Amino acid sequence: MNIIKLDAINSTNDYLKELSKKKWVDDFTIVIAKNQLNGKGQMGSKWQVESSKNLTISLLKHNSGSCFENIFNLNILVSVAVFKVLNSYNLPKLAIKWPNDIMADNKKIGGILIENLVKSKTEINSVIGIGINVNQENFEHINKASSIYNLTNKENDIEELTIKIAVEIEKSFKLDFKILKEKYLDILYKKNVPVTFKDRFEALFMGIITGITDDGKLLIKKEDEKLYSFSLKEITMLY
Ligand code: BTN
Repeated sequence: MNIIKLDAINSTNDYLKELSKKKWVDDFTIVIAKNQLNGKGQMGSKWQVESSKNLTISLLKHNSGSCFENIFNLNILVSVAVFKVLNSYNLPKLAIKWPNDIMADNKKIGGILIENLVKSKTEINSVIGIGINVNQENFEHINKASSIYNLTNKENDIEELTIKIAVEIEKSFKLDFKILKEKYLDILYKKNVPVTFKDRFEALFMGIITGITDDGKLLIKKEDEKLYSFSLKEITMLY
């Protein structure tokens, strides 16, 4: 495994994307940064965490498009791999909130941002970015966020966790995807319980998460007992 360690960078995802455009970068190369100055989150949000206290990595996977019928399935593989590693850290109520927020004790402790570099119809390389709050204590300015430290009272070695996650992701590409998907559905946050959602018109409704569609949309049973599917931009879960 090729590891590039950086002290400070705007975003490990951007760094790895640019690097792979300029030169050949080996499969499963990972970039680790102690500090991200302009970390990126999902849907154009920012990922801001304290320097040196958290895990911020990006991993390059060549030709990820050929591994799955649908590229969304890479989110499933990575979420399950991260879950499996964190499962041995004694975190309360560890779960994956669709599509790939890492939750513990009803708070977000990590997130995943996968950016696909489409070279041609058949060739897609992916930059898999993972942020996990490890030893940070203060989350005053971030709503409903926490860290492994806050939930377990234990400091952890960030580099050790990084390697474990990278190894688990690499291993997961050799596993049966059907089993990974079953696991994902098993660990899905708030599955089968009534939750309030907000749709894109800001209207609130109650529904029950029953699963996901083949292309990664969230399946929700509404009060009329019918199933509806939603993409990430169309819905917010209130919890
Ligand atoms: C989310 O919004 O939940 C996704 C957060 C992803 C953050 C990670 S940190 C490492 C990588 N580099 C980035 O700029 N973002 C991802």
